[in-house]
Amino acid sequence: IPGLPDPHVGKVRQSYDLDAERRLMVATDRLSAFDLNLTTVPFKGQVLTELSRFWFEGTRHICPNHLIAVPDPNVTVCRRLDMLPVEVVVRGYLAGSTNTSLLTMYKGGARRLYGQAFPDGMRDNQRLPAPVITPTTKGDHGAHDEPLGPDDVARLGLVDAATWDRTREHALALFAFGQARARERGLILVDTKYEFGVDPDGTVVLADEVHTPDSSRYWDGATYDARFERGEAPDAFDKDMVRRWVRARCDP
Ligand code: C5P
Repeated sequence: IPGLPDPHVGKVRQSYDLDAERRLMVATDRLSAFDLNLTTVPFKGQVLTELSRFWFEGTRHICPNHLIAVPDPNVTVCRRLDMLPVEVVVRGYLAGSTNTSLLTMYKGGARRLYGQAFPDGMRDNQRLPAPVITPTTKGDHGAHDEPLGPDDVARLGLVDAATWDRTREHALALFAFGQARARERGLILVDTKYEFGVDPDGTVVLADEVHTPDSSRYWDGATYDARFERGEAPDAFDKDMVRRWVRARCDP
C-alpha cells in the first residue's frame, strides 16, 4: 500500500504501520511450504483471518491479544507491539515435519533441549505425556528457524526471564483451551505456533495468527486411535498434505 510506513511482505501476510499504535495486516491467498511460495488458494486469506479472529475473541480470558478490528475478510487492524524474537511452538504429539529429527534429537540433543518431555520408546504420531514448548528462533530474511531449549530463550537474553515465564504460561493455557475446543468438534489440535509481543507497559500480548491450519496441525479425532494402533499416518487437515506433496517431488 503506497505511503504506509514500515511495510513487511511476508510469505503469506503483508503488513504496514497505520499510526503510532496500530498496524494493518493483509492475509493473502498465497500457499507456502518449506519457504516456497507454491500457488494461491481462493479465499485462503479470508479463512486465516476469520479463524484467527474466532480464536482471538474466544481466548481473551486467557491472555490479551493484538486484535482491534477486521474491517474486511482479509484485513486485520492490530496493535503495534515489540515482537519477541522467538516462535513459540507447542506440541501435544510427537509429530510433523520434524518428527524423525525430533526422535533422532531425542536420542541425543532433544533430551538435552527438552528434558524428560520425550520419554523412551515413543512412536511417531504418539501423544506426549504432557504438551511441551519447543521454541525456535525466527528465521526471518531467508534464515531457517533454529530449535532452542526452553531455558535457552532467557539464558541467551532473547527474552527476559519474567516475560518468557509469562509467555510460556500463556502458550500452554492457549494450547489446552484450543485442544479442548477442537476435541468438542472431533478434531485433535496436534501442535501449533504462537507469536507474542510486548506492549509499552510490558504486558505480553498474543499476536499474528492463532490455531489456523497454516500454523497448526489438526487430525481427525474419530480415526486417530485405530490408525495409530495400525501404525498408519493420522488423517490430517492441515498443511502437511502440501509438505508431503512437495517432498515427494523434491526428495524422491
Ligand atoms: O514443522 P514443525 O513440526 O516444527 O511445526 C510445529 C508446528 O508449528 C506446526 O503446527 C507448524 O504448522 C507450526 N509452524 C509454523 N511456522 C513455522 C514453523 C512451524 O506455523 N515457521
